Formats: sequence, structure tokens, C-alpha cells
Amino acid sequence: MTKLLINIKELVQIRDNKTSYLSSSMMTSLPSIKNAFLLIKDGVISDFGPMSDIPSIDNSKVIDARGKFVIPSWCDSHSHSVFYGTRSDEYFERLKGVEYNDIAKRGGGILKSCKQVNNASENELFEVSLLRVKKLIRNGTGSLEIKSGYGLNYDSELKILRVIQRIKDSLPIMIKSTFLGAHAVPKNISKKEYLDNILYKMLPDFTKMNLIDFVDVFCEKNYFSVKESSKIFSEAKKYNIRPKIHVNQFNSIGGVQVAIENQAISVDHLEKLNEQDIKYLKKGGTMPVILPGCSFFLDIDYCPVNKLIKNDIPFAIASDYNPGSCPTGNMNFIVALACKKLKLSVEQVINAATLNGAYAMGVSNILGSITKGKRANLIITEKIDSLRDLPYFISENLINQVLINGNEVI
Ligand code: NIG
Ligand code: FE
Repeated sequence: MTKLLINIKELVQIRDNKTSYLSSSMMTSLPSIKNAFLLIKDGVISDFGPMSDIPSIDNSKVIDARGKFVIPSWCDSHSHSVFYGTRSDEYFERLKGVEYNDIAKRGGGILKSCKQVNNASENELFEVSLLRVKKLIRNGTGSLEIKSGYGLNYDSELKILRVIQRIKDSLPIMIKSTFLGAHAVPKNISKKEYLDNILYKMLPDFTKMNLIDFVDVFCEKNYFSVKESSKIFSEAKKYNIRPKIHVNQFNSIGGVQVAIENQAISVDHLEKLNEQDIKYLKKGGTMPVILPGCSFFLDIDYCPVNKLIKNDIPFAIASDYNPGSCPTGNMNFIVALACKKLKLSVEQVINAATLNGAYAMGVSNILGSITKGKRANLIITEKIDSLRDLPYFISENLINQVLINGNEVI
């Protein structure tokens, strides 16, 4: 059975199938068709165009999208959506002036989230995480990357990766799984011993179990050095696993260079950017991913996105959904925040949160734009005047309907 969307006020983000990502200069436009139709067959976009060209089709379910915009669903390429419990206590401490890094030094922060995950059973972790991701889908997320990294020992990292796999099996959206064993060093074990554990036990075993799509490292002072990151990336290469990296959140220590030299698929955070970093980012192939929700929640710098724009470097935006630095995965909020705080246009932000986000998790050949043959993961908006209304009505949900593989999500 087919599904036909008719009278679409504007069908947005139309791209050919050769465009896998957009450099900054291309991100200022958002190709669209006004008064359009879109045909879905077997969960895939099979045709679209102006209403004047609508084909005659029998036995099709029709959705009348009069007054509504249709855009690709959000592609959120950076999240830590599998976690247990909250860190709201630390949040209120921070509001009173205690620093994020000081909370981490005394064993809170990431290590606190690890304790919570360690104490939960796999089923408990699965139940809360599944609910969380279902909510994201209702908010328009149609593809999502999820990281481990709140386990920091073999059994708990495996527990998280198994939960991600179970979420993949339970839900219709595209989910990619990233092994972030190198998120912090656990207590009661030396860094050397923990690194060896990552390199020679977890990485090979979890790869063999088919639980990992990407590997990630928190490359930062007091966490993992450039040399350690490089070691993890070259070990991962043996298993054909491409890197991602948490880099330049607080300090620029050379992590961008090492990520790009190792063909990372994305470099994420980038609240700090120096000339050397820009030089490497210009080489291309690696997607910079900006996380404005983290800057907002931690009150730290926002990525100096103009440096990327000036050099025609592409960028994506993502949620960074996690209990410490961004306890929301609502991409509608992240999109609004990116306009407000990074001073981006709605065109730039939608490009960053769809096609470029898809590229940052290796799925831009099947998601992220209105392209024949791509999956029909779509957002149908409420009746609105302009796409600008989406980021303008900051915390309102202006989504009327979400389609995943052509099916309506309730
Ligand atoms: O992307 N920077 C490192 N990791 C996470 C936050 C981790 C936490 O505070 O739980 C991030 O911001
Ligand atoms: Fe993160």
C-alpha cells in the first residue's frame, strides 16, 4: 500500500542522491517545492513534485497537508540517551557556583552516572532508555546515535551496548551505536590498565559481538590525551570502526588533528577552535558537530561557528542528550537554541540538523533529505506561516505528525 501526502504547503530540503553533505556556503539555502505532493511506497520516498504533476494512484492512503510544511525528520548524531537516574542535585550545585569540572574531580559527574548504571539491571536500563527514545521520536527525531560511556568497566559497557542493540531491535528509526569506553577513567584502576582493557578486551569483544558502529574518545585535559586517543583510533581501524571524538570542549589540545588524520566521521563539541584546528577541519570528510544544548546547560562558550562559515566548512548540530551537560534530547529545542545562540538562519540550522547530521552518523545515503529512494522519515508541521516559526516559538511543539518509514507515529 502507498501513502500520498497532498497539498503540502512547502516540501523542504529537496536534494539529489549525490549530495551527502553541505558545506557552509550551501547551507544558507533550503531547496523546496510549494504546494507539493509526496508519494511513499514501502516506507521509502518514491515520488514528489508540484500538485499540478500529481500521479493518479489507486488504493493509496491520503494525508492532506494543507497549510503544513514537510521536512525530513531530525538526524541527531550525538547522544548519550542510555543512562539511569538523574544528576539534578549537581545541577543545583552548579547554579550555586560549583564548577562542572570540580564536581567531576570529587567523583561526581560522569562517575556518578556510572554508579547509577552499574546498579541498574539491563532490563531496568532498557525500559527507561526505550521510553526516552520513544519520546524523542514523537519530537521528530528519525535517526539517532547513542553512545556507551557510563559503564567504564567491561560488564557495564556491555550492558549499555546491549541496551542500545535492544532499542535498535525495538524501534523503527535508524540508530547507530558508539563505544565510548574512553569517557573517563574509573576509580580503583590505573589509567594504563583501563586503556589496555579498552584496547585489548572491550574493543575486540564488542566488535565481534557486532555491537559497535563507531568508537569515541573524550580527548581533553584530565581525561584522555591526544596520544591515547590516537592509540584507540588506530586499534579501532583494525576492526574497520571509524572514530568520533569529544574534542575542544574546554581546551584545544590537538584532538581535532588526530581525529582527522584517522578519518573520523565527526568531531564533536568544538567550543574552542584555533587556527590549527581550522586548518585540519578544512581537509574535509569529517563533519564538525556543534552541541549548543551543552553550552547552554553548562554555561560554557558556544562553538565559534563563524570560523567554520568563513572557511566554508560544513557543520551539523546535535543534542548531546545526557544527564550531566544536556538533559534534553528534544531537537526542536536544539534547533531553536542554535538559531538564537549561534545566530544561524533557519535554513542553516535545518541543514545542520538533517542532512549534515545524517552524514555525521554515516546514514546520509538513506536519510536526511527529500530524495527519491530515501526513507520516508518525515516531520509534518502544524499549520504555520513560515518555517521560521519553528525556532521562533522556542519551546512549543509545532509538529503535527511524525512519519517513520512512512508510518504515523502516535
Ligand atoms: O558530551 N564531554 C563529555 N561527555 C558528555 C557529558 C558527560 C557528562 O557530564 O555526563 C558531553 O558533554
Ligand atoms: Fe557527548
